[in-house]
Amino acid sequence: MTLSLPVSGRLRAAVEARRITRRFAGQAVLDGLDLEIAPGEFVALLGSSGSGKTTLLRALAGLEPVDEGQLQVPRALAAVFQEPRLMPWKRVWRNVALGVRGEGVRERSLAALEEVGLGHRLAAWPGTLSGGEAQRVALARALVREPQLLLLDEPFAALDALTRIRMHQLIIRLWQRHTPAVLLVTHDVDEALLLADRVLVLANGRIAEQLPIRLPRARQVTTLGFQPLRARLLHLLGVETEAEPAASVSHPLSRTASR
Ligand SMILES: Nc1ncnc2c1ncn2[C@@H]1O[C@H](COP(=O)(O)OP(=O)(O)O)[C@@H](O)[C@H]1O
Ligand SMILES: [Mg+2]
Repeated sequence: MTLSLPVSGRLRAAVEARRITRRFAGQAVLDGLDLEIAPGEFVALLGSSGSGKTTLLRALAGLEPVDEGQLQVPRALAAVFQEPRLMPWKRVWRNVALGVRGEGVRERSLAALEEVGLGHRLAAWPGTLSGGEAQRVALARALVREPQLLLLDEPFAALDALTRIRMHQLIIRLWQRHTPAVLLVTHDVDEALLLADRVLVLANGRIAEQLPIRLPRARQVTTLGFQPLRARLLHLLGVETEAEPAASVSHPLSRTASR
């Protein structure tokens, strides 16, 4: 495996994965996968449970080796997972500052907390936060690293519907202000369509399908063109709806489907 991390500077692409393969007990979960993400691009990754979404994200984060292939990611990357993963014995701002080096770490941590609307909770203990607040702290912890690549693994899945809507608005605001490339893993077709420039479907260890999403922002499920894309993505994921898919496509979840 080659993992090359550039020392500094903007990459031509924020992610360049070439034919990466990851096996568990001889079974390829990622199987010659190619992926490129442009600087500042917002990409959503859909796929059925167990299709390897988390494995791919962990590989990009450097938390998981790959057995074959080449992977290029920026050094400045940060990840947020479904659980906020805060240290319960450290106050909120210290969780944000954890592992950050350089000048003014406290001030930078506070600024990140302000950005996610939690400036007033800087000295709180993680155990006193709501689920949505804890996830916003996790976002602040990612932001303070000024990532060129932000990896999100179902970060809103455990939140209630109203909190999730607020988190969608927050993530778009932060993305537009800081312009990292984003890879968002989600189960939720609507979430993918509301947020992403491009939606990928992972199946059989590869990117089986991808759809550019050219809907104007800010998007709603009632935005013109949303529902046909939704029907098409659900079709690609093997769920049939009453609405007509945007175009007929081969089924990506069968072994015989070509890429
Ligand atoms: N550390 C591991 N050891 C063995 N098998 C694993 C490991 N991590 C993931 N897997 C397997 O790889 C497959 C993909 O897992 P995962 O990437 O978590 O899927 P997803 O996030 O799409 O639900 C699953 O079958 C899972 O059991
Ligand atoms: Mg997962």
